[in-house]
Amino acid sequence: MRAAVLRALNEDLSIEEIKQPEAVSDSVVVELKYAALNHRDLWITKGQYAGIELPLVLGSDGVGQYKGERVIINPSLNWGDNNRFQATDYKILGLPDQGTFAEYITVSKSKLHSVPEHLSMEEAAALPLAGLTAYRALMTKCRPEKGEKVLISGIGGGVATMAFLFAQASGCEVYVTSGSLDKINAAKQMGAADGVSYRTENLAKSIKAMTGGGVDIVIDSAGGDGFGELIKACKPGGRIAIYGGTRGVISKISPQLIFWRQLEIHGSTMGTDEEFEAMLQMIDQHKIKPVVDRTFNLSDINQAFKHMSRSDQFGKIVVNCNA
Ligand SMILES: NC(=O)c1ccc[n+]([C@@H]2O[C@H](COP(=O)([O-])OP(=O)(O)OC[C@H]3O[C@@H](n4cnc5c(N)ncnc54)[C@H](OP(=O)(O)O)[C@@H]3O)[C@@H](O)[C@H]2O)c1
Repeated sequence: MRAAVLRALNEDLSIEEIKQPEAVSDSVVVELKYAALNHRDLWITKGQYAGIELPLVLGSDGVGQYKGERVIINPSLNWGDNNRFQATDYKILGLPDQGTFAEYITVSKSKLHSVPEHLSMEEAAALPLAGLTAYRALMTKCRPEKGEKVLISGIGGGVATMAFLFAQASGCEVYVTSGSLDKINAAKQMGAADGVSYRTENLAKSIKAMTGGGVDIVIDSAGGDGFGELIKACKPGGRIAIYGGTRGVISKISPQLIFWRQLEIHGSTMGTDEEFEAMLQMIDQHKIKPVVDRTFNLSDINQAFKHMSRSDQFGKIVVNCNA
């Protein structure tokens, strides 16, 4: 079968013929139709991820056909029995096991779910990792209530756009930040109440002005020095979920800002099998369509990686596994 193989760090992936995987014990073979990129795939190509083993077929998001049915794969493997955190042998599809940038994959049958009927296969490919991460961060950790104000930072990202859609479906008023005015405008087209650049001086002040006093919930994947501004922008009783560290170390935060206003700060990573099912149910119930930025052919996958590394995308970058 054809697959995109990472043979060396900081190198392009090579499109190769490799051995087609076979069904073993409880695993079944899925004929992949579409995959999608996550920032994790890019971090791995740069060596900025733990436990890299080469050569490797990357890719955590996949949809395909199994016994004539449209199936979507839950990429969250070995969560374990504690809903609060993942087990020590937890892993995500695409490292170390073969990922979805290929024509076939073997996965445990328990990880297969029906694709919601209102979604095309391309749209469904945009869901698994980003949808699960956004669902746990927003719905499980921050528990949005109708009418609350939610700020999604860095709205151009795959997870961020999913969190946006879940907040909207929860009846919240949604605000965004981004590095790009075009992306803020795109979010407004989707119904965002307003948006501001995360590069703005005194960001908290701008967020408070734009939201009329601050937000109830923040979903962030950047951290860094800007994180303090997001804390300041919260109203008393606010909840923050952070699921990424794009801007690195968080520093210079006054503890009073957190304890006096009874803030909750949640770390969040991926999600449980139950959350994956709940995420799909929410998608189905509200007929949510994930934001697909562009679809690349598998043969052009290196262009897809370059597109992501330039932060050009708004939403998910999808890959056609058969082209
Ligand atoms: N813990 C987990 O389970 C988990 C799961 C998924 C992702 N992540 C992490 O979350 C991050 C985003 O992942 P993704 O797949 O959604 O990425 P992506 O689709 O490539 O998007 C990149 C994101 O980073 C934002 N960004 C870039 N520079 C920023 C800055 N200076 N301040 C604030 N935001 C900034 C972008 O915002 P704009 O484009 O709007 O500027 C965009 O939202 C990555 O660090 C990834 O490793 C973690």
